[in-house]
Amino acid sequence: MKGIVLTAGGGKRLQPMTWATSKQLLPIYDKPMIYYPLSVLLQAGIRDILLVTTKHDLENYKELLGDGSQFGVNISYVVQPSMDGVPQGIVLGKDFIGDDSVALVLGDNVFYGSGFKENLAHAVNNASKGIATIFGCRVDDPTRFGVVDFDAKGTAISIEEKPLVPKSNYAVTGLYFFDNSVVERACNLQPSALGHFEITDICQQYLDQKKLKVEQLDLSFAWFDTGTVDSLFNAGEFIRVMQSSTGVKVAALEEISYDAGWIKRAQLLKCAERLKKTEYGKYLENIALSTRR
Ligand code: G1P
Repeated sequence: MKGIVLTAGGGKRLQPMTWATSKQLLPIYDKPMIYYPLSVLLQAGIRDILLVTTKHDLENYKELLGDGSQFGVNISYVVQPSMDGVPQGIVLGKDFIGDDSVALVLGDNVFYGSGFKENLAHAVNNASKGIATIFGCRVDDPTRFGVVDFDAKGTAISIEEKPLVPKSNYAVTGLYFFDNSVVERACNLQPSALGHFEITDICQQYLDQKKLKVEQLDLSFAWFDTGTVDSLFNAGEFIRVMQSSTGVKVAALEEISYDAGWIKRAQLLKCAERLKKTEYGKYLENIALSTRR
């Protein structure tokens, strides 16, 4: 399975912070925002990743992430020439995806909860059988999101993008697992009544064909779309509290890769050395020097 991470959104609601830099390079506590969605792809076992960005931000991402080898993955880049919506990421990634299935994650989404790795494994498995998977999470302000409605049995029955009158409080999170047919669907997608290309319309197609699984993230699960100042701040505070109370860093890409056996101890120590003035670097060093692998 391939992975695509989208970072080309304008970040208008975070101005002036985003006037000179990409939203997904802003920090969430101790790491750039982009580490968090990347960590989701890595946890799903995905090692071939395409990062979609703007011409303006391309060099910054390359400087931060390089070819991905320090994280044991392959990262390539494509420029999104205009802000034509999330499905455009799939259209731009057509050759990269090839005949494979694909996971798409929005660069401003942060996920944290137990059992998430199992959720990801199911989604990867579903995609290999032609079934798409999305994740629904209960929110107080559904009008900001794609919204999924369920029948009495908990089966998804509709998906609407930012409805004025939401049918439920379940937001569609920015993480999508698709089989290869998504490429054709994205290439042939028609704009919505508002003239936008919406990822929810692709999900609705899968739903109509009974090829969509909607996983409801349970109430203890934390999901942040960090598109507003408050949600960005809340996500940072949440990560700070979780990390200091558990002693485990969230979205430490080098750690995920090391645990998966994708990088060796020497490489992990090299990453730690580069960050030696930080808590993050000390954390990586401790892992490398421990006997856990
Ligand atoms: C996008 C999707 C929306 C989804 C949201 C999650 O919206 O279109 O369906 O709920 O991401 O982050 P955007 O944040 O691009 O406005």
